[in-house]
Amino acid sequence: QEGLPLSGKKVLITAGPTYEAIDPVRFVGNHSTGRMGFELARAAADLGAGVILITGPTHLQMDNPSITRVPVVSAQEMCQVALDYFDEVDVVIGSAAVADFRPKTTSDSKIKKKCGGLTIEMVPNPDILQTLGDRKEKQYLVGFALETDNELENAKSKIAKKNLDAIVLNSLRDEGAGFGGETNKITFIDKNFNQKPFELKTKAEVAQDIWTEILSRLHA
Ligand code: C5P
Repeated sequence: QEGLPLSGKKVLITAGPTYEAIDPVRFVGNHSTGRMGFELARAAADLGAGVILITGPTHLQMDNPSITRVPVVSAQEMCQVALDYFDEVDVVIGSAAVADFRPKTTSDSKIKKKCGGLTIEMVPNPDILQTLGDRKEKQYLVGFALETDNELENAKSKIAKKNLDAIVLNSLRDEGAGFGGETNKITFIDKNFNQKPFELKTKAEVAQDIWTEILSRLHA
């Protein structure tokens, strides 16, 4: 589509949870639905972009000719796919709830019930945004921050640490914000620490607000 604000641009979005396998039937995961990332992908496509949507396990459907969905399961897979596409994209939004840790080993067979319990050793996963931030050249890189305490300060330090251009803060203190639901309440913070708080809105509306903020900075 020509003549739209993101015509000719490529956008990479990570969405949903990651599942870290314990054995063939069990995993460590989280309650992310992927909805915010899906709305960001839809909004980017409506603005004319070609979108790569890398999704962890989610029930959400996406049928849009401008959106290429790449399903993954684990954080390591998500990181590899993100790296595969990174050089060809203009904007990256990391909205996935990536598991910070994975089991050190995955059992090939279902672990049997034992008396005395089970201890699973966990090791850190790669930080996908950090990995992309470290090798960033031209890309506009946006992260999410879900904070409970010192939210503004933590979000700002995350911008610097991960070499981001902006971060979307959702406070867990705000009713209706964050995981799972239909609505979200965000503050957009750019790398110059300009902050813009928004009202509680549907995730589709929040996605449009986020793109409005990104676009005004992409063209600046
Ligand atoms: O450091 P923290 O997990 O709070 O940062 C959240 C941001 O970093 C989100 O944008 C999330 O998608 C991204 N992230 C990531 N890889 C991880 C952990 C978080 O890309 N392993």
